Amino acid sequence: LEDLLSEGVSGRRVLVRSDLNVPLDGSVITDDGRVRAALPTIQRLAEAGAKVIVAAHLGRPKGTPEAKYSLRPVADRLGELLGSEVRLAGDVVGEQARAVVADLPDGAVALLENVRFDPRETSKVAEERAGLARELATLAGDNGAFVSDGFGVVHRKQASVYDVARELPAYAGGLVLAELDVLSKLTGDPQRPYVVVLGGSKVSDKLAVIEALLPKVDRLLIGGGMAFTFLSAQGYRVGSSLLEEDFVETARKLLAEHADKIVVPSDVVVADKFAADAATDTVAAESIPDGWMGLDIGPRTTEHFASEVAAAKTVFWNGPAGVFEMAPFASGTKGVARAIADSDAFSVVGGGDSAAAVRVLGLPEEKFSHISTGGGASLEYLEGKELPGVAVLEGGA
Ligand code: 3PG
Repeated sequence: LEDLLSEGVSGRRVLVRSDLNVPLDGSVITDDGRVRAALPTIQRLAEAGAKVIVAAHLGRPKGTPEAKYSLRPVADRLGELLGSEVRLAGDVVGEQARAVVADLPDGAVALLENVRFDPRETSKVAEERAGLARELATLAGDNGAFVSDGFGVVHRKQASVYDVARELPAYAGGLVLAELDVLSKLTGDPQRPYVVVLGGSKVSDKLAVIEALLPKVDRLLIGGGMAFTFLSAQGYRVGSSLLEEDFVETARKLLAEHADKIVVPSDVVVADKFAADAATDTVAAESIPDGWMGLDIGPRTTEHFASEVAAAKTVFWNGPAGVFEMAPFASGTKGVARAIADSDAFSVVGGGDSAAAVRVLGLPEEKFSHISTGGGASLEYLEGKELPGVAVLEGGA
């Protein structure tokens, strides 16, 4: 970004890929963290006189426009935060996008409609993606440039993330650079003890990162829905809790090989149904009654996790410890988040749900060393995988 700014952007059209994939309740944004994180790069370009064209996705529409996935609420919020109107084009690269871009004054910001409304965005066929990338590049025009700033999406080989970087002079944005800088501290030589807290619902999503992290960490604390596959691997009955049968054997192997590192819940909050008004109880992990489901870690586990975090010098947290959106199952996530906030360790919160949890639970963001905007992207980075949206900027991939 600095290189581009020093070249001069006044009067030039700069296409910025941001990750504005925010959680919505109807058309109300419930956590605008990603919009705020995208702001500095957009602002700097606009202040330098660029005509800023932002491309972003929302949710996972199936390649056609759907009102519920419109970026309208995001355009409004971005405009509020910038203090100037952000015009939303009614399409991605069609007539409306061309018209909005043609009229854009220097220093103004426009947002294209959800790029995933175009099926070529996520196509597996490189030539199809390249077609969309060329049309995006055309919007920026001859003297245009591309700034890749959507860290949360750099692990996706998609037209507006990867292919477009081959069609225009491409630069890494400030957010992407800042995220990579922080995460590289975790893969480099982290201060010890290095404690990782993982949660979320699926072991299958986290297996690769668990395997990559185990040799590097001192403790791996497992909460969330995925803990039940580990409890099952210990031979416990888990009632109606989330269970991935196909991964029990792998979990058993990991527990056996890394008994000194992996910590699973010793007690859980169970419910008779998946609802905020369910009947609840706190039970030992080995005594989950049939027909009941575990929806949070229990107080003893929360305390244990908190003491591990308190002793750590480096902490990475990804995935809530329970269904924190429902008050009866929020204590575990709150306890973990508070322990991280209270510690002096270098602390990184990875992505989507856990970042949202910090804000929804009202914890001060400045108490964490870094709250990443990338969920999947930060995990893939920690796994050591190549991030296509970054590699393409470095001339690789
Ligand atoms: C995310 O929410 O992690 C990013 O915006 C990427 O979204 P995706 O998983 O739908 O590609």
